[in-house]
Amino acid sequence: MKFGDAWFLQDSSGGGRVKRIDRRFVSPLLIAAGLAMLLFGAALGALAAQSTNPQDSGQQDVHDTPVPLPAPEQPIPYSHKPHLALGLECTMCHTNPGGGRMMTFPPTATCMSCHNIQAKNKPSIQKLAAYDASKKTVPWVRVYTVLPGVNWSHRRHLDAGMKCETCHGEVRQMLVMTNVKSVTTMVGCIDCHTLHKAKTTCVTCHPAWAPEMVVAK
Ligand code: HEC
Ligand code: HEC
Ligand code: HEC
Ligand code: HEC
Ligand code: HEC
Repeated sequence: MKFGDAWFLQDSSGGGRVKRIDRRFVSPLLIAAGLAMLLFGAALGALAAQSTNPQDSGQQDVHDTPVPLPAPEQPIPYSHKPHLALGLECTMCHTNPGGGRMMTFPPTATCMSCHNIQAKNKPSIQKLAAYDASKKTVPWVRVYTVLPGVNWSHRRHLDAGMKCETCHGEVRQMLVMTNVKSVTTMVGCIDCHTLHKAKTTCVTCHPAWAPEMVVAK
């Protein structure tokens, strides 16, 4: 008989007593699971330490993504490497308007300033021109996203002297954009904050939990 069935039969016939006996196994089990997670964490830590690029002097501000994530398929096969080799600046395409959370994606007009002529007979550029003609933005698939509700702003970090490459890797060398930095994970944020002596209290990044908001409700 299966364990699940046995438990169910005993529970319905034996009532609370059997349940209580079962519960006694729960805490040792939890402790064992906790220990296993700790050991797993330590192993991961050792792995991360091993894979740290020896060329970097000292600690990385933002850890590399442990397992490189595959590049999402984009509506147009835009590539950073050849475009940046033309001498373009990041800010030609990524601006930081208003309050400053976003670095934004370029309007098609920015692309068309060259592609009205450059490679205009290539299928990918004809697709780009079609978006432009119908006044649609290109539906780029996001590579980096922070969980909604987390307090994040590019502006704060750029003002503090942080560089694009620190959080997004060597973009100038990328043929396809992939997630190479653990910058959207909580540990990624906190490790860099610790390194730069920035705030690490929970409400810094989770403002919805601020005690004054709880009182206000
Ligand atoms: C000619 C325009 C152009 C320039 C210049 C440019 N980018 Fe981009 N960037 C794009 C486009 C288009 C995308 C969306 C397609 C993609 O992910 O490859 C993008 C995507 C990105 C993303 C992924 C964002 C996400 O979450 O999906 C990052 C990070 C990024 N760019 C950083 C940079 C950096 C850093 C530079 C300068 C070194 C730069 N870009 C220069 C056009 C540009
Ligand atoms: C400063 C000029 C310039 C800008 C701005 C620019 N490109 Fe390009 N792009 C080029 C050049 C030059 C090439 C190489 C053309 C060739 O191979 O003949 C190219 C190549 C491409 C290709 C490859 C075409 C192919 O199939 O060979 C794509 C796709 C592309 N660009 C998309 C974009 C997108 C999307 C944007 C806006 C986010 C953009 N480009 C902005 C100059 C530019
Ligand atoms: C301190 C780390 C950090 C730095 C520095 C940084 N980024 Fe980001 N970037 C992020 C995070 C985190 C996200 C995801 C944000 C979200 O989900 O709203 C992101 C998202 C993006 C996106 C996607 C669109 C958006 O605005 O959310 C683009 C494009 C981008 N970054 C480009 C850049 C460029 C260009 C620079 C340099 C001028 C830069 N980033 C500097 C961490 C950083
Ligand atoms: C590359 C290092 C680095 C990374 C990665 C980073 N931060 Fe920061 N962050 C800083 C520094 C440095 C400051 C302090 C800026 C200042 O003093 O104005 C800061 C400040 C902040 C502030 C303002 C705190 C205040 O003083 O009120 C918030 C909010 C914040 N970061 C959220 C995040 C979140 C969320 C992430 C991850 C998605 C993140 N940061 C990732 C370096 C980083
Ligand atoms: C420097 C920024 C930062 C600080 C400080 C911070 N967090 Fe986070 N936290 C994040 C980010 C970013 C995520 C989203 C991670 C992801 O998507 O993988 C997150 C996610 C979480 C989640 C998961 C939320 C969900 O809905 O899945 C919990 C729980 C959490 N944080 C608790 C805390 C607690 C408790 C503290 C204080 C000890 C804290 N955080 C401090 C940035 C931060």
